[in-house]
Amino acid sequence: MKFPPWTSVSEAAQLLKQGEVVAIPTETVYGLAGNAFEPKALAKIFAAKERPTFDPLIVHIADLEQLKDVAKDIPDSAYKLAEAYWPGPMTLILPKKDCIPDLCTSGLPSVAVRFPSHPVAQAIIKESGLPLAAPSANLFKHVSPTTAEHVAAQLADRIAGIVDGGPCAVGVESSIVALTGEVPTVLRPGAITPEMVQKVLGQVAIKESTSKPGQAMQAPGQCDTHYRPQVPLFFGEVPAGYKLPAHTVRIAFGNTVGPIPATVNLSESGDMLEATAKLYAFMHDLDLPENDLILVDPIPNVGVGMAINDRLKRASIKKLTF
Ligand code: TXA
Ligand code: MG
Repeated sequence: MKFPPWTSVSEAAQLLKQGEVVAIPTETVYGLAGNAFEPKALAKIFAAKERPTFDPLIVHIADLEQLKDVAKDIPDSAYKLAEAYWPGPMTLILPKKDCIPDLCTSGLPSVAVRFPSHPVAQAIIKESGLPLAAPSANLFKHVSPTTAEHVAAQLADRIAGIVDGGPCAVGVESSIVALTGEVPTVLRPGAITPEMVQKVLGQVAIKESTSKPGQAMQAPGQCDTHYRPQVPLFFGEVPAGYKLPAHTVRIAFGNTVGPIPATVNLSESGDMLEATAKLYAFMHDLDLPENDLILVDPIPNVGVGMAINDRLKRASIKKLTF
C-alpha cells in the first residue's frame, strides 16, 4: 500500500492544481477531490471510484463569493440557507454556470455546491484556488469513509494523495437541498434536517424517489443498493425463532434488547449525533470475512435519524435468507 505517509495540505493543493485527484477530509465524510473546472480531473475521479458518469458530483467552495464562480441566478433562498448553515453539512442544488463541465453535473443544468466546515478542507480549497468536485472517497456503492484509513483501504493505489484530517465529526453525507424548483426540496437527508430548512425558508418538500439506471440522478445517490458492506447487513426486525448464523454481530443503539448481545453500541445514551458519527466506522470495522451477518438495531426516524435510516435501508439486505 502506498499510504502512509500522508499528503500535506500544500502538497494536496499542488497536486490538485496539476489536475490530480486527492482524498480530503470534510466534516461529513472524506471526499475524493479534483479541479471542478477540469474535465480530465473529473474523469480521474469517476475512474478511481468506478462510478458511472450519470451520477453527478458535488462542488466544494471555501468562501461564499466562490458560489458565483460555479452557479448563476442564485436565489435569495440560497443566501438565507448559506447564512444559517454554511460552512456545514448542507449541499445546495442551483443553476450551473457554463464553466462547470457537463461531466461534473452528468449533463444536468444544475450544480451541487457545498461549503464544508472542516478547516483542512477549507485550507486545501483556498490554497489550490479552485472549486473542488468531490464525491465521497469510496468505491462506487461501498460504505463512505469517515477516516483516512478507510480511504487508504479502498483507494490507496488509485489516487495521488490522501490528507489525514482525523475522524469525521458528522459521519454521514451532507443534506442535499434543491433550490431549482418552486419549493425547496430535500433530495438527500443529512444533519441539516427538513425542519431546519423549513425554519429558514418557511417551506420545504422531501423527495422520496429512486433514479432509473442510466439516467442522471435528480434525487441523488439514490440507488437502492448504496453504502453496502461486503458482509450482509440486516436492518429490520429479526423474525421470532429465526436461527441466526454462527458469526452474527450486532450494532446496538441505546439500551434496546436485541436477539444477541451488542457487539458495539452507536450510543449507549441514545444520542443521535453520536450514533451518526460512529455508524460508518462500525460498518467498516465489522465488515470482516469471519462475520456472517451484521444486525443493526432500529433507530428513531426523526431529525438526523432520518439520514441514518435512509443509509441503513440502502445498506440492508431485503430479507434474512440463511
Ligand atoms: O457530505 C457530502 O456531501 C460528501 C462530502 C465529500 O462533501 N460528498 C458526497 O458526494 O456525499 P457523493 O458524490 O457521494 O454524493 C453526491 C450526490 C450524488 O449522489 C449526486 O447524485 C448528487 O449529489 N448530485 C450532484 N449534483 C446534482 C445535481 N445537479 N442535482 C441533483 N443531485 C446532484
Ligand atoms: Mg457517495
